[in-house]
Amino acid sequence: MAAHKTVVLGVTGGIAAYKACELIGRLTKRGVEVYPVMTQNAMRFITPLTLQTLCARPVAVDLFSHDAPFSVEHISLARRADVLAIVPATADIIGKLALGIADDLLTTTVMATRAPVLVAPAMNGAMYSSTVLQANLATLRARGCTVVGPEAGRLACGEEGEGRLADVGDIEAAIMDLVYPRRDYEGLAVLVTAGPTREYLDPVRYITNRSSGRMGYALAQAALERGARVVLVSGPVAIDPPDGAEVVRVETAKEMLEAAMSHFDACDIAIKAAAPADYAPKSRSDRKLKKAGVGGGEITLTFVPNTDIAAELGRRKGKRVLVGFAAETQDLEKHALEKLEQKGLDMIVANDVTREGAGFETDTNAVTILTKSGSPVRTGLVSKLEVAHLVLDGALTIHRKKQE
Ligand SMILES: Cc1cc2nc3c(=O)[nH]c(=O)nc-3n(C[C@H](O)[C@H](O)[C@H](O)COP(=O)(O)O)c2cc1C
Repeated sequence: MAAHKTVVLGVTGGIAAYKACELIGRLTKRGVEVYPVMTQNAMRFITPLTLQTLCARPVAVDLFSHDAPFSVEHISLARRADVLAIVPATADIIGKLALGIADDLLTTTVMATRAPVLVAPAMNGAMYSSTVLQANLATLRARGCTVVGPEAGRLACGEEGEGRLADVGDIEAAIMDLVYPRRDYEGLAVLVTAGPTREYLDPVRYITNRSSGRMGYALAQAALERGARVVLVSGPVAIDPPDGAEVVRVETAKEMLEAAMSHFDACDIAIKAAAPADYAPKSRSDRKLKKAGVGGGEITLTFVPNTDIAAELGRRKGKRVLVGFAAETQDLEKHALEKLEQKGLDMIVANDVTREGAGFETDTNAVTILTKSGSPVRTGLVSKLEVAHLVLDGALTIHRKKQE
């Protein structure tokens, strides 16, 4: 493996700080250059000399140090990082990062970096389960930060509970995944549909839904990161598409169907994360509909069903993998499995849109990934990008089986 990858390793003031030593050893063996940054409180637990000796370079500790080896140290560190990992991460640093506090070398470096950020929390079980810590972690996840652990077990304070630093080998593996992103989608074409549709009543009014497009856009981004060619068929949304995707913008479900059909043949894996309307007004007036007199009376609109895009693609999928989404408010898995069968899907991602932090207009999601034969994968509340990678993992396994 090339020796030029750099991990900036933040070490904070928790009892598990000594475990950073083992991590440095493991990463160094992998040819990764480790630049440790310690908080002032981390130095109460272990000395910079220990880390300095292990990674054979000075340890950065002071934001205002004049003999820093780099010009403006936090900016230099931020730029040179391929990954910024904080191991262990105290409740304190997690809170600071969630709030955007930048009052020391580590927090300023995190704010200034464009590299992926990973935190491995370790603390007392009651601190870990506290509402504020959980909310702060959710904020970090929503920003795309990778959170590894913690684990349940015996804690340094003598209690049993969740809060132990994750296994150092697992942390090493998660860091290496970020250092060398998987390119397992190289050579594959992925079609993603995303966002809502608009079903017009007249030139100024339409029926739509709460889909923000975030899940579909995260899928497109994850597939691009893993080397796929991506066509993103998108309804009207307020977010920017990931660089590198071929974006086809549509408004109505009919346009979405046409766009999806015309790009389907060329794809290997199609993921239907959009929320096209099931029904459209029977007629679309060319002129703005007028209110009937002052105050107006009741009006009745007639809707007709739109063509079911997933079912349509399911009928002609051949060896392609077809993944659908099910937003449900009750009997989640039962309804999702029915949909899987009816529409000829290979995999369905079910989300309970009534759960806080999941479903529409959020950066996080909690889903159950169901296939015909495999056991369900339940994610818990994680970032949409993490959900996207899990969906891609599953879709790739099915794709490989179909090619056998
Ligand atoms: C003996 C001892 C052990 C501690 N262990 C932890 C810990 O494991 N996790 C944690 O979040 N805080 C722990 N703390 C509290 C932190 O040291 C404290 O919140 C500190 O402000 C963290 O500073 P830092 O995040 O800038 O490193 C511990 C404190 C003491 C005195």
